[in-house]
Amino acid sequence: MRHLLSTASLSRDDATALLDDAERFEQALAGREVRKLPTLRGRTVMTVFYENSTRTRVSFEVAGKWMSADVINVSASSSSASKGESLRDTVKTLHAAGADALIVRHPASGAAHQIAAWTAETDGSGPSVINAGDGTHEHPTQALLDALTLRQRLGSLDGRRVVIVGDVLHSRVARSNAFLLSTLGADVTLVAPPTLLPTGVEQWPVNISTSLDAELPAADAVMMLRVQAERMNGGFFPSSREYAVRYGLSEKRMKALSDDAVVLHPGPMLRGMEIGYSVADSPRAAVLEQVRNGVHVRMAVLFRLLVGTDEGEIS
Ligand code: CP
Repeated sequence: MRHLLSTASLSRDDATALLDDAERFEQALAGREVRKLPTLRGRTVMTVFYENSTRTRVSFEVAGKWMSADVINVSASSSSASKGESLRDTVKTLHAAGADALIVRHPASGAAHQIAAWTAETDGSGPSVINAGDGTHEHPTQALLDALTLRQRLGSLDGRRVVIVGDVLHSRVARSNAFLLSTLGADVTLVAPPTLLPTGVEQWPVNISTSLDAELPAADAVMMLRVQAERMNGGFFPSSREYAVRYGLSEKRMKALSDDAVVLHPGPMLRGMEIGYSVADSPRAAVLEQVRNGVHVRMAVLFRLLVGTDEGEIS
């Protein structure tokens, strides 16, 4: 594997191997006073973020540092992108400066694919590209960490009913999860207002519902999505009040879930609208497990792209 751009193109074997490697990294680090493995010593990893982030950028930085890579963080606002430099010139510059991997977040859907194409223009020795979120398209490492969290909580994804709720239209998390969780054997249902479903969703490997209350009793997991107001050009329909009433996972609504059902949210959360204040902190919510798993999943992805499967031990 040279790049990680989407989950739609990830096979079940590849996805399972990445989740297994993530758990191997977790075990290799467990109980260590010094969380440092030599796996990527001498490698240079660059995060290149044109959109804000807390979880993804920090966990990639932690993952790289725990594997002894040199990690450089580039943000659009403090780079020459703010002076008008093109994305292509920025990518070529970071390649020339020694990047072995570019971890890219960008508001344009397809940006990561385009960057991967540019890195191949020279002699094929360009950096690996990891899609850390491209517009409303994909966020593959988020889906991998979600799948790992569900596998740990539920034992297996085979036949499990996962309900993904909310602003599917703008959610790269929803798309990446719809494909990955289906590949791993889950039965995925999207619950959203019709105004927040994307064109072409009928082609996704999912069921579609408009009633959260109808889906909750049989769900093994509920994944609440962030409402992405910044992509709505000032308009939001339904209103936030109506959205909370019909699609929010309130304390009252949570009681319809079975005892073992898991609640996920990729963050950042809008408590009180997408998810009840105490629901997010309840034992069935796995929000902070998702964040912890994010570090190990990103270690596994960096390992797979920069070392390969057969060539190296993780430590
Ligand atoms: N889940 C997620 O991508 O969060 P950040 O925007 O904080 O990285």
